[in-house]
Amino acid sequence: MARNYVELKVEESIATLTINRQEALNALNRTVLEELKEVINNIAADDQVKALIITGAGSKSFVAGADIAAMKDMTPLEAKEFSFLGHRVFAAIEKLPIPVIAAINGFALGGGCELALACDIRIAASTARLGQPEVKLGIIPGFGGTQRLARIVGKGIASELIFSGEMIDAERALAIGLVNAVVPPEKLMEEAQKLAQKIIANGPVALRYAKAAIHNGLQMTLEQGCQYEVELFTDCFTTEDQDIGMAAFLSKQKPVFKGV
Ligand code: CAA
Repeated sequence: MARNYVELKVEESIATLTINRQEALNALNRTVLEELKEVINNIAADDQVKALIITGAGSKSFVAGADIAAMKDMTPLEAKEFSFLGHRVFAAIEKLPIPVIAAINGFALGGGCELALACDIRIAASTARLGQPEVKLGIIPGFGGTQRLARIVGKGIASELIFSGEMIDAERALAIGLVNAVVPPEKLMEEAQKLAQKIIANGPVALRYAKAAIHNGLQMTLEQGCQYEVELFTDCFTTEDQDIGMAAFLSKQKPVFKGV
């Protein structure tokens, strides 16, 4: 499939995916979502890619939401299909076995904020603005916002943001735990890369298990999640990386993990 709106570059095992539809502030229509789905599937199948950074093209917008013009005349059935499509794509991002960082370079609104919420870690430019303004359009978030936002910032703050539809700045997003860090806009990609590099220097199997433990554990009771952690912790001891990591520590060397 020829891609018009989603760019992918891979450097030193770190993939950077850029949504580029600047004429609509990178808003997500069906085509963009289909392209995203294809790229995410390709990344999932590529074991050379160890981390993914998702960002938006230009300095103004990460993603300004689902495409309002495209949604305006949708029938309820079309809206349902559109919502399912967004959910499938964002779930695929969330389920990638590698760490995913959102580099939020500007507006992250509606579906754009929801895209960032499906990532593991969010870094925002100080100029970023985030929000779930759907109620201002007479709808509710449709790509996971009501679920993931509440899980990340808690029910009260999520309710405030979703009910008011107001945008917040990067500093407030940091204060409520919606983003992990705020950096100057010109440093955003550098900081995202630095963090990705730091992460991928760690054991790849351990990273995969850690992500599974956090993500899947959140769907479980605490007791089930702790049991799941025990199982994954145990599985670490079947890997060469466990031996490599601990031997390197004890001999004061830097570990060179094999990912097995
Ligand atoms: N869908 C379609 N087009 C969009 C868009 C969107 N979500 N956001 C911006 N655009 C378009 C504008 O229509 C405009 O196009 P034209 O030049 O053809 O008029 C262009 O992008 C530039 O936007 P503005 O002129 O509005 O730029 P601004 O600087 O004045 O304002 C903004 C920027 C505050 C982000 C404003 O564009 C805005 O409020 N956008 C909509 C944000 C929004 O409501 N997002 C949620 C969508 S619903 C959703 O996402 C549902 C879901 O959960 C699945």
